Amino acid sequence: MAFFEVKGISKNFGGLKAVNNLSFSMEKGEILGMIGPNGAGKTTAFNMIAGYFPPDEGEIFFNGENITGMRPWDICHRGIVRTFQLSKPFGDLSVLENIMVGAFHHQHNRVLTKAKAEEVLEFIDMVDKRYVEAHNLTVSDRKNLELGRALATDPQLLLLDEVVAGANPTEAQAMMHLIRKIRDKGITILIVEHNAPPTKPPAMKKC
Ligand SMILES: Nc1ncnc2c1ncn2[C@@H]1O[C@H](COP(=O)(O)OP(=O)(O)O)[C@@H](O)[C@H]1O
Ligand SMILES: [Mg+2]
Repeated sequence: MAFFEVKGISKNFGGLKAVNNLSFSMEKGEILGMIGPNGAGKTTAFNMIAGYFPPDEGEIFFNGENITGMRPWDICHRGIVRTFQLSKPFGDLSVLENIMVGAFHHQHNRVLTKAKAEEVLEFIDMVDKRYVEAHNLTVSDRKNLELGRALATDPQLLLLDEVVAGANPTEAQAMMHLIRKIRDKGITILIVEHNAPPTKPPAMKKC
């Protein structure tokens, strides 16, 4: 069985079929891109995988376990974490404190949590912004912080929802570099994006 497998999941909102019979699988260490225009159902697929709501049909397997319908915290505990298309950090908390929120998921000791957050800060190259309150960050730095918060939970599978949307080309390049660096740590990455070179949607690409 694959490391991560989605089998025929669907979701209806009233009369609208947002996701229709989606299937794919991933092996450890892969980066898989899911590309589609706005409204294609990408975020809805993430919401089902991450447990925000269950699929109407189909099943999701992770590390050989059926995780369909589990709650978000149980799924996060198993090693799947997602970022949000619209990042909403705790505005009055610093960058460091926001990352600590993620680190508290596994660790309840404040000193160790801070050490974990410091390590992540360095990894995402935001050491110099550690004391900046999140509401003062640029869109691109907010996306970086969102990634940092997710990484601090020590995920095995990272779901990235449009992390380069709104970024300029230089910021987008920096984000792609960071994503490969995360993969090189052994973390598997599923990334959805509508900001992509022209293709025939829907399309999936392994990198
Ligand atoms: N919670 C919801 N309730 C009702 N309709 C929704 C909900 N979430 C998404 N939709 C609808 O489902 C479709 C797919 O949305 P979404 O998954 O956000 O697409 P994408 O992320 O690809 O832009 C859209 O038509 C959207 O309006
Ligand atoms: Mg979306």
